[in-house]
Amino acid sequence: MATLFGFDHRVVAIPTLAVSVGIAAYTTYRLYSERSQRKKQNVYESTKLLSEYLIFHYGLPNEVLKYDFGPKSALDFPKRCAELCLKHYKPQAGVPARGLDIGCAVGRSTFELARIFDEVIGLDYSQSFVDACDELKREGLINYSIVDEGELTTDLTARVDKSINRSRASFIQGDACCLPADLGQFGVVLAANLICRLHHPFDFLWRLADIVAPGGILVITSPYTWLSEYTEKKNMMGGYYDKDGQAVTGFMTLMKVLGPCFDLVVDENMPFFIRETAHKNQWTVAHATVWKRKNP
Ligand SMILES: C[S@@+](CC[C@H](N)C(=O)[O-])C[C@H]1O[C@@H](n2cnc3c(N)ncnc32)[C@H](O)[C@@H]1O
Ligand SMILES: *[C@@H]1O[C@H](CO)[C@@H](O)[C@H](O)[C@H]1NC(C)=O
Ligand SMILES: *[C@@H]1O[C@H](CO)[C@@H](O)[C@H](O)[C@H]1NC(C)=O
Repeated sequence: MATLFGFDHRVVAIPTLAVSVGIAAYTTYRLYSERSQRKKQNVYESTKLLSEYLIFHYGLPNEVLKYDFGPKSALDFPKRCAELCLKHYKPQAGVPARGLDIGCAVGRSTFELARIFDEVIGLDYSQSFVDACDELKREGLINYSIVDEGELTTDLTARVDKSINRSRASFIQGDACCLPADLGQFGVVLAANLICRLHHPFDFLWRLADIVAPGGILVITSPYTWLSEYTEKKNMMGGYYDKDGQAVTGFMTLMKVLGPCFDLVVDENMPFFIRETAHKNQWTVAHATVWKRKNP
């Protein structure tokens, strides 16, 4: 299973060779118990991933970063992403007052966009994240527990700010590389830390001119951590030398693909902080680009 921005720790099953009937029976037993252990491990891994995202999105500053030193400016990343969108969005005739948060994970940015828009859609590939979003929408909170060290955990509650009208947000499971045809157009589209997770990032980028309304705002953030476990080499957006030996960066590819239909408004570096355990944390700096859809 994937960690937030780390490497995958896959559980490897080692097939046991059967050389006699007795050993074959033992092997069957072993494979069976390895499989059920693996299943347990997966459930554990996905619960762990869900709680890492819940604290990343909804953790209070003293829950996420309990030291009096450390990168405080890296907290509340999903909220800052929504704020960046809203800073550049100008309500005007012809620009739909709707938001779309693609790769929404557990939905913090989606809810933050609902402070302004009466309709915001959060879309994610992971059904368990979409289920968590629906529970947050329904209940306003989710109880979860975070790992402190090893088996030691702390119980926490993720809460959507009471001043947000949660019924304005809705969540769907879907694939960013093959977005539903009937989404319509949006005044704001956010894709935070999504592009380097996609199997076909170009299929995603090509669709954007369609779903961002003319005059609307698109925000893409990415730490440009191109990894072959998510994207096959031939589909990569950047992080390689082309056939002429020229370096291709993710930002260059964004400008090339989005340039014809979007104006680049601003780009900036946005730090974020991920708590894995009480003592192991990741500090990453995403590159954020803000685009305005041109009038056709
Ligand atoms: C690194 S997380 C970022 C989540 C969130 N936007 C944030 O900034 O915290 C990437 C998210 O994209 C989702 N994702 C990965 N591939 C996807 C795809 N093909 N379509 C939609 N979502 C996808 C993952 O499930 C995960 O929630
Ligand atoms: C919340 O939003 C829904 C959908 O837009 C609306 O019908 C409802 O009146 C709003 N509730 C409040 C308290 O503003
Ligand atoms: C969440 O946990 C609190 C205790 O911290 C408990 O009172 C509450 O009933 C729990 N809520 C749900 C929905 O499980």
